[in-house]
Amino acid sequence: MSRETLEYIASRKKELNAIILAHYYQNPDIQDTADFVGDSLQLAEQAAQTDADVIVTCGVSFMAESAKILSPNKKVLLPDIEAGCPMADMVTAEALRKKKAEHPNAVVVCYVNTSAEVKAECDICCTSSNAEAVIKSIPEDKEILFVPDRNLGQYIQDQTGRKMTFWEGYCPIHDVLTINEVEEQKALHPNAKVVVHPECPPEVTRNADVVKSTSGILNYIKESEEKEFIVGTEEGFLYTVQKACPDKKIYLARAEFTCNEMKHITLEKLARTLETMEHEIEVPENIRQKAVKSLDRMLAIAP
Ligand code: 13P
Ligand code: SF4
Repeated sequence: MSRETLEYIASRKKELNAIILAHYYQNPDIQDTADFVGDSLQLAEQAAQTDADVIVTCGVSFMAESAKILSPNKKVLLPDIEAGCPMADMVTAEALRKKKAEHPNAVVVCYVNTSAEVKAECDICCTSSNAEAVIKSIPEDKEILFVPDRNLGQYIQDQTGRKMTFWEGYCPIHDVLTINEVEEQKALHPNAKVVVHPECPPEVTRNADVVKSTSGILNYIKESEEKEFIVGTEEGFLYTVQKACPDKKIYLARAEFTCNEMKHITLEKLARTLETMEHEIEVPENIRQKAVKSLDRMLAIAP
């Protein structure tokens, strides 16, 4: 990457009063260029609080949409409009409306990995950081419909004992991790703690030492007395942890752990988006007004 590109990003950012937000799954050069790197919850919080006029989201489209929903008067840019989330695409507003008709009394909880239209159909949103707190905030006698991640839903059900109806969605990156792959790593690194994301399948989460969101994994590794960790989440996160904890040994739970959607964002595309102001994310106001309620309810109880 040329120095000119980095200098251009820095000066154009100042000129626009822009903030660059990046998810932990972004490539190292994007993480190093961003003003803030975090998980889905932290990115939503930053978008809601920032004084910047322009928010550039280095992540996937639902993250940029969440920023727009929470900060409607700001310009929100996504450097590559093709960066989407296959799990978010597994539920549409129309399909959800049909499901809701079958469960008319259910509280509908949606994972943040959903489109604005789907959020508009839900009662409350959650991320992997606060899903347990969100579910615990729902009165015991209420039925819960959880969309779209069946693995996160199952994990929260295991933790809280709350029976839920799950949507059959999943993250294609985390869902393929098997217990055998984890065991292979464990055989190579017998002293390592196994720390996985709740998007992993139940056989993996039930046998892990720790299950946490990306920021939760980061904090756990930072604070732990242990020195070695087998991490079950996307490989971009390795850079984040290794930078924060250079003295610890971190191993990926499987060799291939890449979300190609996240990798759509490059420094060249980031520079271009700041130059051309494309691709601007818009959410129709009628959808936004409904979707913001589910995000605001979540942010009010997020730990
Ligand atoms: P968190 O950022 O909430 O840990 O979720 C991971 C993820 O898959 C984002 O797409
Ligand atoms: Fe979606 Fe999974 Fe990629 Fe996250 S890692 S953006 S959940 S496909």
